[in-house]
Amino acid sequence: MHVLNGNRSSYIIDAAAGGFPVCCHWGGPIASPSNNLADLHLRDRSFFVHSGAGTDRIQPELLPLECSWPGEGDFRQSMVDIRQGGEPLCGFRVSSVRSEAFSAPAQLPGFLRKGDEQNLVIALTDDHTGLVLELRYAMIAEHDAIVRSLVIRNETDRSVSVERAFSARVQLPPGVQDILHLPGAWARERNIERRRPGTGTFSFGSLRGASSHSFSPSAALLADGTGERSGECYGFSLVYSGNFLFSAETDQDGGMNILMGLNPEGFSWNLAPGEVFETPELVMIHADDGLGGLSRRFHRFTRERILPGRWAERARPILLNNWEATYFDFDEEKLGRIIDSASELGIELFVLDDGWFGERNNDTTSLGDWFVNRNKLPGGIEAVARKAHEAGMQFGLWFEPEMVSEESELFRQHPDWCLHIPGRERPEGRNQLVLDLCRGEVRDALFASISEILDTGLIDYVKWDMNRSAAPLYSPAYSDEPMGNCAYRYAAGLYGLFGRFTAAYPDILFEGCSGGGGRFDAGVLAYMPQYWTSDNTDAYDRIAIQEGTSIFYPPVSMGSHVSAVPNHQTGRLSSPAFRFAVAAAGNLGYELDPLSLGVEERLEISWQIAFYRKHRKLIQGGDFYRLEPSGVGEHAWITVARDGSEFMLFWFHPEGAVNRAPSRLRLFGIDSASSYLEEAEGKLYGGDELIHHGLIHNWGDAGGLSLIRYFHAEGERLR
Ligand code: GLA
Repeated sequence: MHVLNGNRSSYIIDAAAGGFPVCCHWGGPIASPSNNLADLHLRDRSFFVHSGAGTDRIQPELLPLECSWPGEGDFRQSMVDIRQGGEPLCGFRVSSVRSEAFSAPAQLPGFLRKGDEQNLVIALTDDHTGLVLELRYAMIAEHDAIVRSLVIRNETDRSVSVERAFSARVQLPPGVQDILHLPGAWARERNIERRRPGTGTFSFGSLRGASSHSFSPSAALLADGTGERSGECYGFSLVYSGNFLFSAETDQDGGMNILMGLNPEGFSWNLAPGEVFETPELVMIHADDGLGGLSRRFHRFTRERILPGRWAERARPILLNNWEATYFDFDEEKLGRIIDSASELGIELFVLDDGWFGERNNDTTSLGDWFVNRNKLPGGIEAVARKAHEAGMQFGLWFEPEMVSEESELFRQHPDWCLHIPGRERPEGRNQLVLDLCRGEVRDALFASISEILDTGLIDYVKWDMNRSAAPLYSPAYSDEPMGNCAYRYAAGLYGLFGRFTAAYPDILFEGCSGGGGRFDAGVLAYMPQYWTSDNTDAYDRIAIQEGTSIFYPPVSMGSHVSAVPNHQTGRLSSPAFRFAVAAAGNLGYELDPLSLGVEERLEISWQIAFYRKHRKLIQGGDFYRLEPSGVGEHAWITVARDGSEFMLFWFHPEGAVNRAPSRLRLFGIDSASSYLEEAEGKLYGGDELIHHGLIHNWGDAGGLSLIRYFHAEGERLR
């Protein structure tokens, strides 16, 4: 038996069942596993097909397989499907088990290795052809995280075609019944959907070339009765930003079988003799302390093992982005006034968004022409950047590197550089085409043209946007291969570019974006430590978007901005305090024209910025708890310092509170033995009191919709 132990969980694998790899246990910790765990009650059942003979007779469908394939009697969805000359390869048996370290996939992002992982590589060899499947496992004990992936080695003398290659398969223990995932759309990303799927298959994924707004590449499976604070759950988050699929198949015996990884639809990979194919890494975390416990493990894992190391602990600047302030309508003089005004408010980073390049005065032209529009900015980007620096701020710039407008110099020079099928219409989205990042020369040209600007040394931040879904997913450059390689090649090409830029410009802060939060996933976060959470900046809507995002992704990865009213997406009015309280729960920014603010608003924003700066370390670095207020429609979160010495409370009542009883909010995650002083009103509370009795707030009296409050421990009784 092979045991991977987390601090509070164990993952135990066995290959005794005739060479089929099976999961004997994934769940709470087992100190010394006995052979009873491998007793899988194998007995012949009607209509089950067996392989082997005599005492070696195995019915694969009875087993909680760690990897599966068609053709030998497992009739559930397969993890791999590999063919040689049309024949399915179907005789895989465990050939070796090694505890050896392995690196991240060569062309894809991986988690940060720190040498403390427990590694396991289970090799399966096809008895007929010699093709090898490697199941890779790394357990990172302090996070109870297992990172899995699959590697296919064609050690045969003929090509094979890989039709399916999920990163992992695992069968969950009985009692796990609910699926929680984060479906959405543009401007309403990552809604929390919890459902009981019943027998059969429930799946979701993307075929858009990006993980997309529609579905997030993450899911949690929850035992009956699991809530925020208690119960068992299992989380999955794919370190990948392209086409993916999550599938949960509840079989005829109630076993829930999970597959996650590359979407098999439209996928096919030709693997020549000697070649290796690597799947994305899948992070799998077990928690015994509820959905909140699962989220905090994902948050810590993401901060410590996914975000680029140099950014994990660095304070993120408070930015002002000019998009909603000016859209395409700006010039050097106007930007200069905005910069001066922003700097007086205490803004730390000024970001110049879309419209500064080529002839871009609307969204019909110029993507791909990454040189400055001198009509708008006669002094070039240099003049604007210097102006920001002189005003004491950093300077950031928007790019959408993956795209080309038909109306652009780049397209005129290289009409074949986009994804397309020769001779057929090229479907546009937002008047643009997707560049063919499968091709090395396209990536090189992009790197060269964008580097010219970054090489000025004046750019401190880049917003990397991506504003359409990819169709067709076809690269004419690879027309000699069977169709189906493009989505993976595109993702690998994209990561290649991310890697080049982040290595060449390690001090530039990159923020990911895709029409807001359309590609918010661990794959992008491995290069870009923060992401523009949504184009919807309405604080009301943002509560749900940020709460959904927080299931798997830490607040420090979320860009969240205060914008003007009426809100540009929804037309809604809301108070500056409410907009700030929501935005301050993530990486604070402003998405408005500072020149349009009155004296009072300016004073309020200066106060907000000073408050956030004072508590930034806590908000960006603390542990995040979703709480359950008593009032209908309310939401509340706290961010607690790791030593319990302070916390920030964010409490929202977006529905309004006419004629309602006061609300009560019981806290958890704080130190019950400490006393906490709430700074604004100078009130002292016992930690035990806040936990067991709770805070009482009368929204009606206060007349507000939000509360942001800082508490710090007083006296000696710290944990
Ligand atoms: C996308 C982004 C926005 C903005 C615009 C510019 O929609 O999400 O924040 O940058 O593009 O065109």
